[in-house]
Amino acid sequence: MTHLTELDASTILHPATNADDFSRSGSKIIESGQGIYLRDHRGKQLIDAVAGLWCVNVGYGRTELAEAMHKAALELSYYHTFSGMSNTPQIELAERLLDKVPNGLSKVFFGSGGSDGNDSLLKIIWYINNIRDRPQKKKIISRWQAYHGTSVATASLTGLPSFHTAFDLPLNNILHTESPDFFRYGLEGETQQQFSMRRARQLEELILEQGADTVAAFIAEPVLGAGGVVTPPVGYFEAIQRVLKRYDILFIVDEVVCGYGRLGKWFGSELYDLKPDMMTTAKALTSGYFPYSASFVSDEIWQLIKQGSVKYGNFAHGYTYAGHPIGAAVAMANLDIIETENLVENAATVGAYFHSQLNQRFANDSFVAEVRGTGMIAAVQFVKDKNHALFFDKQDKISAKIASQCYENGLISRPLPSLDSMAFSPPLICTTKDIDNIVDRFEHSVRSVMFEEL
Ligand SMILES: Cc1ncc(COP(=O)(O)O)c(C=O)c1O
Repeated sequence: MTHLTELDASTILHPATNADDFSRSGSKIIESGQGIYLRDHRGKQLIDAVAGLWCVNVGYGRTELAEAMHKAALELSYYHTFSGMSNTPQIELAERLLDKVPNGLSKVFFGSGGSDGNDSLLKIIWYINNIRDRPQKKKIISRWQAYHGTSVATASLTGLPSFHTAFDLPLNNILHTESPDFFRYGLEGETQQQFSMRRARQLEELILEQGADTVAAFIAEPVLGAGGVVTPPVGYFEAIQRVLKRYDILFIVDEVVCGYGRLGKWFGSELYDLKPDMMTTAKALTSGYFPYSASFVSDEIWQLIKQGSVKYGNFAHGYTYAGHPIGAAVAMANLDIIETENLVENAATVGAYFHSQLNQRFANDSFVAEVRGTGMIAAVQFVKDKNHALFFDKQDKISAKIASQCYENGLISRPLPSLDSMAFSPPLICTTKDIDNIVDRFEHSVRSVMFEEL
């Protein structure tokens, strides 16, 4: 370890890190970034095929964003938005976003990240059901394998057991229905459509078992991100939305990963014909250059919040950095880049190329069972033998080994250890040549690990 990595290990509690292993292995320090490349403290150049944490969609080192930040900081470094205070950048951003989001969403609430965005929507749901005089209708249904954040409420929504174990979560009024992962849970001979119907029935059974008058909302990512890059099976959201309508249950769409172009459309809602009553976005809103979230609510919900102020006084929720003028200016400059460089279209075309390359390279290998995803998001599923449906043992830590080999070969990929999968969400500026580079490095790494393992 170097002085800096030792200092890091002795001072910082790292998120989502094995605290015991880490005290021995130390950190990898990233020094700089340009385009799709990062450089670490040892001078190693890496392609970042995950775009940070699925967020740096316009790539690193963009002068447009740095200049927007600089200019906004000189103009108004900070002012709060409590008690009706405002600033020009947040107003301009709100107008621009409301023009882009799915129909029916009419107001935006700004925050600093995906967790506080989802958290805010949950509080709003509990609040409006008190206004509507139905205090028992408060339960929220999420899905196993979902990822919605790590605050007390949003870690409860997250459907990955490690986010609950020993944290005394989930909260009582947060429930989980079965995951939409057809690869893992589809029955032999079952079609995707039949699987989707089964999942919708299971959701309905859960609602009826709990009592429809106790269930307020259902939350879903259009494509499960951290839970495995799982696209919805055929007919899934159609069937789910029918159930929600039947029991007067609000639909929260979590677009924190999918929003702003990653799936080759502005929002996953557009791709899968989702009709959100509420929607959360963050990450790519500023391409990660500034912590920012934008959560949206329908006009009906807004009207109830207004009634709430008559009944209870001020809407008593908000964050110090809500509507931060610098973040809003960065978001505007980021949206300019996405539009002028046609990055949404690029995600569709280059993303299709990415998927075709991943599929082709591993088509004849028995250790890759499927390539999932759409647009600029993908995951590769490793198995011991796809012909005999043999999975790796947990101790094999196959995805961690491949990720570490990828790093050696100059590629950052995202291992999903509980699923033996490797995830990718490259910056949307990638060209087909960049994709060739990513897939070359990945294939080389996979083959060298599999050569040892199999
Ligand atoms: C779909 C989804 N929702 C919410 C979050 C939480 O966002 P944050 O980490 O900014 O709180 C994430 C983070 O990865 C996410 O993937």
